[in-house]
Amino acid sequence: MKKNLWLFLCLFILGGSVLYANETPKPPAQKWSFSGAFGTYDRPSVRRGLQVYREVCAACHGMHHLRYEKLKALGFTESDVKAIAAEYEVAGPVADDGQPTKRKAEPKDFFAHPFPTEAAAREANNGALPVDLSMVVKARPHGADYIFGLLTGYEKTPAGMQMATGMHYNKYFPGHQIAMAPPIISDEQVTYPDGTKATIHQMAHDVVTFLAWASEPEMETRKHMGVVVMIFLGLFTVMMGVLTRRIWQSVKRPL
Ligand code: HEC
Repeated sequence: MKKNLWLFLCLFILGGSVLYANETPKPPAQKWSFSGAFGTYDRPSVRRGLQVYREVCAACHGMHHLRYEKLKALGFTESDVKAIAAEYEVAGPVADDGQPTKRKAEPKDFFAHPFPTEAAAREANNGALPVDLSMVVKARPHGADYIFGLLTGYEKTPAGMQMATGMHYNKYFPGHQIAMAPPIISDEQVTYPDGTKATIHQMAHDVVTFLAWASEPEMETRKHMGVVVMIFLGLFTVMMGVLTRRIWQSVKRPL
């Protein structure tokens, strides 16, 4: 009886470790300017990330929740934003003959979608849907580290692993088979106007910083508010403590 118990325990531990080894590894934690209570978005990095998004990711991924005019928060002027928006087309009013029309995007519009329908997006991507990227940093656990890991985690398929057609091996994607071909493949894939060297690592870092900003552009105000409230509460507590002592010091304690 006792022997069986030991055997069972050993199998349990062994089985557990085998299962664990097969699991998707946790992407390593990166240093992000926006993490922590005092974190802020590194603006030049967000702007470079926007460039990576526009030049690389926007071919497949939309950003439904981001309006062009929000880019003003990154230091773009009104006319810069107008010019950026005008490079894209969005759905216009339906024509008199019932046909859909297109018009140039304006600052008030949401980022244009690369595909007209979900079916078209899937058809171009081996049946898989390129997710909307506006909230993806929030939508995945450890979003920033995970997406950074995903973008830099493409590897040669390990020997013995069967891949479905058109799929790519990625270390950090659950199940390791992803329909997205490596989007950032070589250094200098984009040319940064600020002179920053566009290494794969740098581009991945910048695009994730941009996606983090897009998922919560008001984060800095929220954190700032939190710090102000904590300082206020601290001072308030001290004041109340002093006041309570003052009020009660003249009252004799009961024997
Ligand atoms: C050629 C099209 C294409 C390009 C370019 C592309 N992606 Fe993708 N992406 C996809 C597809 C397709 C999927 C869905 C993959 C799947 O479900 O297997 C995907 C999925 C993703 C996901 C979701 C992964 C998950 O956990 O579900 C993220 C995040 C992502 N892409 C980020 C990016 C970023 C950032 C860029 C630009 C640097 C980019 N992609 C460029 C096609 C693309």
